[in-house]
Amino acid sequence: KNIVILISGGGSNMAAIVKAAKQQDWERRYGARVAAVVSNKADAKGLVFAREQGIATEVLDHRQFASREDFDAALAQRIDPYQPAVVVLAGFMRILTPGFVQHFAGRMVNIHPSLLPAFTGLHTHQRAIDAGCKFAGCTVHGVTAELDVGPILDQAVVPVLPDDTAETLAARVLTQEHIIYPRAVAALLQQR
Ligand code: GRF
Repeated sequence: KNIVILISGGGSNMAAIVKAAKQQDWERRYGARVAAVVSNKADAKGLVFAREQGIATEVLDHRQFASREDFDAALAQRIDPYQPAVVVLAGFMRILTPGFVQHFAGRMVNIHPSLLPAFTGLHTHQRAIDAGCKFAGCTVHGVTAELDVGPILDQAVVPVLPDDTAETLAARVLTQEHIIYPRAVAALLQQR
C-alpha cells in the first residue's frame, strides 16, 4: 500500500509520518510505505528531507497552470502512478477543486491546526487567542469538497496560556500534530 504525501513548506508533519513509518515498521505491519512526497513549491524544505530518506519527490508549480482545475488535473495525473492507498495533505497550502477531491474520495486526509469545527481557514492560532479560548489544538480529518470540513479522525488539545502569542501556541499545537497525524494514518492503514 502506497502513501503519497503533499507538502508546500517545511513538511514537519510529512517528516513525522516518514519517521513513524520507519520506527514502527509500517512496511511489515501494514504492507505500507511512503512512496512519494509531492510539492507545489520547488523550494519546499520538506523535499530535501524526503530526498535524504530516498523517497521519490515530485514538484508541480501551480503558477505554470492557467486554472486551478488544470493544476489539480495535472497533480492527480502525477499522483496516480503511485496508486496511493492514502493521500496525505501535510501543510499543503492549496485549496483543492471538487474534481480533485472526488478523484481521491475516501482516501485523502488533512491536518488542520484547530479543534474543528472551530476556526476553519487560516490564522487559527491568533483567532483562538483573540477569542479568549482556554484550549486549542489540531484535527486530522477526511477531505471533502468543503474546506476544512470532513469526518474527524483524530484530535489533540493543548492549553492556551495567558502570555501566548500565535507563534508560541502554534509550536505547542505542532508538537501534537506530529503525534496524532502518524497515529491517524497508521489507523487508516490498519483498516484498509
Ligand atoms: C501546520 O500548522 C499544519 O497544521 C498546517 O500547516 C502547518 C505547517 O505544517 N497544515 P508542516 O510543518 O509543513 O507539516
